[in-house]
This record gives sequence, C-alpha cells and structure tokens, in this order.
Amino acid sequence: MLIDNHGRVINYLRLAVTDRCNLRCFYCMPKNGIKYMKKNDLLSFEEMFRLIRVFGDLGVSKIRITGGEPFVRSGIMSFLKEISELVSITEISITTNGTFTLDKISALEKMGIKSVNLSLDSLDRERFFDITRRDLFDRVMMTYRKLVNSKINVKTNMVVMDGRNIEDIYPMLELTKYDDVSVRFIEEMPFNGTEGQGNATIWPAEKIMKYIEKKYSHQKMMDSPASTSLNYKIPGYIGSFGIIPAYSRTFCGSCNRIRLTPQGTLRTCLYGEGQLNFRDLIRSSVTDRVLADHLIKAIGNRANDGFEAEKSRSTTLPPSESMATIGG
Ligand code: GTP
Ligand code: 5AD
Ligand code: SF4
Repeated sequence: MLIDNHGRVINYLRLAVTDRCNLRCFYCMPKNGIKYMKKNDLLSFEEMFRLIRVFGDLGVSKIRITGGEPFVRSGIMSFLKEISELVSITEISITTNGTFTLDKISALEKMGIKSVNLSLDSLDRERFFDITRRDLFDRVMMTYRKLVNSKINVKTNMVVMDGRNIEDIYPMLELTKYDDVSVRFIEEMPFNGTEGQGNATIWPAEKIMKYIEKKYSHQKMMDSPASTSLNYKIPGYIGSFGIIPAYSRTFCGSCNRIRLTPQGTLRTCLYGEGQLNFRDLIRSSVTDRVLADHLIKAIGNRANDGFEAEKSRSTTLPPSESMATIGG
C-alpha cells in the first residue's frame, strides 16, 4: 500500500496522455491555445504502461485518463485495451470533451471502462461556443446521449462562470430528472494558461448551492470516501448532482490521488509544482525498483493540502498553467 506522510492511502493515478486539445475552453486555454510539447517530450504509451505496471504493483488500482483531450492522441484505444487487461488496475475512467468519443463508446463499454466524465459547460449552443470557442455542441450532446444509454457511468462537468453559464445551472439539473447521470458544478480554478492572471472564483460552492436552493429541494447522498464532489439528489429525479469545491479545496483531507502530466512529471497535488520527472528517469534506463523507490519517496513528502502545495511553489505568482498541461 502507498501511504503518504499524512496517513492517506494513495491508490488513484490521474494520467494525462496528451496536452493537445481541439477545443479552447475559456477557463483552460487562451484563445490562441498553448504551446504544445514536442512528441518526443511526451511519455510514450510504452513508458506510460510501464509506470502503470510499477505503480499498480505498489497499490494504485484506479486510473483516470485525462488530457488535453485524451482521444486526440492516436493509439489511445489500444493503450486503454492494454491497461484494461492489467490485473492490478481494477477501475479505468476517462475525462473527455466528448468531441471524438461517440464512435468509441461501444469499444469502451466492451473493455469495461467504468466511467466517463464529460465536460459540458452549457446546454445552449451559443453559450457552448462562447465558452469552448468551437461549434461542436451537437457532437457533444450526441455523445452525452449515447453514453447515458450505455453501461458506462456518466458524470458531466460544468465549470461555473459568472456572466457565461449561470443560466445553465437549472437546465443541467433537469437532465437528472430522467437520465441516470451525475451533473457536477465546479468552482473555477486559475489554471487557464494565462501567465500571472488568476481568475477570481466568484462562484464558490456555497453560492452555487444557494442558487440551486432557490428552485430545488435536495437530499444529501453518501459520498464515496475520496470524492471531490459533494453529492445530492432532487427528490423524484433519477440522477444526481454534485458540487466540486476545486478552488476552496475542502476535500484534500481524503485525497487519494497523484498525477502524471503528459511529459511524465509526477504531481502529488494539482496546486503544487512537479516533484520529479519519470520520463527522464525511464530514459536513463533505471530499473522498476528505482522507479518504485522514487514514487514512494515523493509520496512520503506530500503537502497536507492544496494551500500548502501552492505555498511551496517556487514563484509567488498564483498558479496559471493550462489545465491541459497538468491534466486536470
Ligand atoms: P472521479 O472521482 O473519479 O469521478 O474524478 P473527478 O470527478 O475528480 O474527475 P474529473 O476529471 O471529472 O474532474 C472534475 C473536476 O475536479 C475538475 O475540475 C478537476 O480539475 C477537479 N479535480 C480533480 N481532482 C482534483 C484534486 O485533486 N484537487 C482539486 N482541487 N481539484 C480536482
Ligand atoms: N477550473 C476548473 N475546472 C477546470 N477544468 C479545466 N480547467 C478548469 C479550471 N480552470 C475541468 C474541465 C474538465 C476537467 C478535467 O477539468 O471541465 O472537465
Ligand atoms: Fe480541451 Fe478540456 Fe482544456 Fe477544454 S478544458 S480546452 S476540452 S483540455
């Protein structure tokens, strides 16, 4: 078992397979995008697979594939198939923007992918375009529908932004009336790829909840132990909704996750800087034991929470990397 210096069991790896994305979500990237890494600077699928195997032997059993947009990287389906066959990995989930996902849903279902989290920031075509800067709303909604009708668990992610998608909160909740889906509302974080300019969070979790309570009654659900979302049900509705205090960081006490960025940097907290680069280690021909020892050491030196991690950064500027370069 991997246990950090604060007694938290680490069993969940969030693996970003690319920094590339075909959307330009306002809260994640500037209009002109970010400078993408060169292919050789990214972990290859073979390198990722080796790390998953080593981490899996140490106790990591859940993997979430993130990006950028995971499905823009060619070879992703064979990679997923390979990890789905690893006995140590009991749960594979994916976070996607849903624009290249539609024709892959049946294959994902067959591989036993447990859940897909779909970024869905608006149910209105124009607002969707305003936020993502791409006209791909119909494709994402088709993906949503097909996912909901599949065996895969579906959660949607909406970053709540003043002046952009507040009007979508109630329609999103209405999705849960007939669909078995968890609709989540996320506090905006400053990871938008805009140097030095953090977005102030003007819709914290409590404000989102107050807005929901103006129209809906709700029942609290039991949250899974390391859940990022506080989850609720509207009486009589099939699905549920969740609020993710990603910026308030109230869930750090039960954090069971580590991250690998597309270039192989280990991050033991989203708000911290990278601890070490596994790509460079692998390329210097070290053994699996050495890789394992490096992971154990990094986990023995984790920040207590996202605030401490942020304070430990080498710059006093607020974090500003694009989520696509970290992997969310
Ligand atoms: P599951 O629990 O497996 O469903 O994952 P998730 O819901 O945390 O994953 P998802 O990729 O859908 O992320 C939803 C939101 O939570 C995104 O905005 C993430 O950036 C944010 N998030 C995920 N993990 C963390 C974390 O460790 N810290 C913070 N602050 N935010 C996180
Ligand atoms: N703040 C909050 N959530 C974000 N995401 C991307 N950038 C941000 C941000 N700045 C979310 C996306 C995606 C998930 C991986 O992270 O909506 O669903
Ligand atoms: Fe792409 Fe996701 Fe970033 Fe949007 S949030 S630009 S979909 S990586």
